[in-house]
Amino acid sequence: MAFISRIKAATSIAATTLVMGMGAAQADNFKIAVGDGAGGTQEALGKAFITALEENTGGNHTGSLFLNGQLGAEQATVNDMAMGTLDFSILAINNITPFSPSVGTLTLPYVILSLEDAVKVTQGPIGEELIENTIRDAGVRIIGWAYSGFRVLTNSVRPVESVADLDGLVIRVPKNEIMIATYKSWGVNPTPMAWSETFTGLQQKVVDGQDNPYITVYAMKFDEVQKYITNLRYLFSIEPLVVSEELFQGLSADDQAAVLAAGKTATEFSAEFLKAEEETIKAELVSRGMEISDPADDEAEFIQLATDAVWPQFYDSIGGVEKLNEVLTALGRDPVQ
Ligand code: MLT
Repeated sequence: MAFISRIKAATSIAATTLVMGMGAAQADNFKIAVGDGAGGTQEALGKAFITALEENTGGNHTGSLFLNGQLGAEQATVNDMAMGTLDFSILAINNITPFSPSVGTLTLPYVILSLEDAVKVTQGPIGEELIENTIRDAGVRIIGWAYSGFRVLTNSVRPVESVADLDGLVIRVPKNEIMIATYKSWGVNPTPMAWSETFTGLQQKVVDGQDNPYITVYAMKFDEVQKYITNLRYLFSIEPLVVSEELFQGLSADDQAAVLAAGKTATEFSAEFLKAEEETIKAELVSRGMEISDPADDEAEFIQLATDAVWPQFYDSIGGVEKLNEVLTALGRDPVQ
């Protein structure tokens, strides 16, 4: 595919530049925790990162992906990296928010409304500030971003098109206060559950439903335990590649540059991967028997309830309403008064 050739060309220019400047460093095979299964954006980002890292370091450094939460639940991997016992992790931004509340700006409902919005916010000055905050608050450094698409609602009970249709459904959410508050604004008291336990929770009907992007639903084989999909667009899923700051600071300057450049290459790949894969995966889920509904009235009721109730609750934790306004302004939208 053309986009893969472009990425390869960019990678080899970066590789030549970086390898020329490198001494004979200690070879490493970094452990990279991945929350999702094979076939998703997290794995795609991880593979692109490893390829670029190998090229950038002349094969001196590589990495191994441990899929499906083998190295622990996503939130636990943040602690492990902070303590220096895990090298890298690829996880949903909502699972970093509890450790670094300012990244909650990216999990407020209906703030990021497209892939273009997600790229603009993460790759500009706002993204830079969030990276610095996360190093300070959580001891981990975001070096790349996977873009996974909107989190759609799935459940095993009935089609959902309105807020009223949610009544009585038991919905799993990550342990993330903003997402919990969002469901509460829709009249649901959701069940916080670790990502690594979610498939079993759905299978055993401890919970009826959950939300995650199409590609994640596919990678986790949720079609085996879920029937109905609702095209909610409240949260565009952003899934960073994160390195232990302790590990990063222990690298030579050349290796740090190689890691950062590989993260950038993988990020560019991720946006193209989403564009290339999402529609095909959606069709595949339908062919496996899932039924897709759109929310009534263009989601107006969901949007109104969530933005009115949830945004103000989290101004303090994200650093003030001005932080939300910086994002809205960068995206060409009206600031909150
Ligand atoms: C979650 O729902 O906990 C995460 O979004 C899962 C993921 O990383 O894909």
